[in-house]
Amino acid sequence: MDAAARWLAESQALVESWIRTDMEREEVPGGRIHEAMRYSLLAGGKRLRPLLVLAAGRYLGIRRGALRAWALAVEYLHTYSLIHDDLPAMDDDDFRRGVPTSHRVFGEALAILAGDALLTEAFLCLAREGAVEFAPERVLAAMRVLAEAAGSRGLIAGQVADLGADLHTADLGLLESIHRRKTATLITAAVAMPAVLVGETQAQERLEQFGEHFGLAFQIVDDILNVVGDPRQMGKAQGTDAARGKVTYPALIGLDESRRWVQYHRDRALQALQGHPRADALALLLEQAVERER
Ligand code: IPE
Ligand code: IPE
Ligand code: MG
Ligand code: MG
Repeated sequence: MDAAARWLAESQALVESWIRTDMEREEVPGGRIHEAMRYSLLAGGKRLRPLLVLAAGRYLGIRRGALRAWALAVEYLHTYSLIHDDLPAMDDDDFRRGVPTSHRVFGEALAILAGDALLTEAFLCLAREGAVEFAPERVLAAMRVLAEAAGSRGLIAGQVADLGADLHTADLGLLESIHRRKTATLITAAVAMPAVLVGETQAQERLEQFGEHFGLAFQIVDDILNVVGDPRQMGKAQGTDAARGKVTYPALIGLDESRRWVQYHRDRALQALQGHPRADALALLLEQAVERER
């Protein structure tokens, strides 16, 4: 295993232990809401976004412990978005992270509330711990990056456009703009926040470019996997997009052309790193994301 792979494996274990410890603190005896929050969080997941936070930190020379709250916040926020994405009013999915979805286990009301609570928890975690290591004005600026990515012009706008898209009228331009907002904004925020925290403006620009193309490649791979992926490996069902007539890359342009777009965004993302010596973990996360469907 090379240095980046070892570093990522260690970081993954670190993120898991942070999530567990933080969630134990949330425990209230008989608190079904905390049970529901833990259920979705601890079911697994690749932890891609917190790993991107830490890998961007490695690129910038920030030690992992300093970014704990930021890694947690982005995973909490992402997990909320998955719980709500799976609701009957949205994608109506039954499996996620290898287990039945939150609303199938806890009912719709509690699933909505668990999502709400995780979104709130993300910003609580930052308000509580974010300024221990960094200057308060930088912390505010980085919190703003996260809030903008998650909000009604970012992830939420993407989810709204995703639900409204029609296979008969959609084109690639619309689909890319949906993917940019529903997926790439949060991935971009994950790598941009560490740069904002240390005021590295030039690095921030490169990381944003990296994140944008990473996010677009990642969502196209997710679309491809919905056609050809192994449900056990993905931890979620296959074929659901086609069954629901969702607008996806494979539906619009077929698998081969979709794979070409993945390569295009992968190349652009790598270019943004400009062969920086400490970009190894970011580059490895990108390769792993792209190779998921091979
Ligand atoms: C799923 O994200 C939703 C998309 C934006 C495609 P992930 O594939 O990162 O899901 P987990 O966190 O590993 O479950
Ligand atoms: C999920 O997109 C995006 C967000 C949750 C913001 P999808 O609906 O395409 O992702 P999966 O396939 O359910 O994970
Ligand atoms: Mg969706
Ligand atoms: Mg979905």
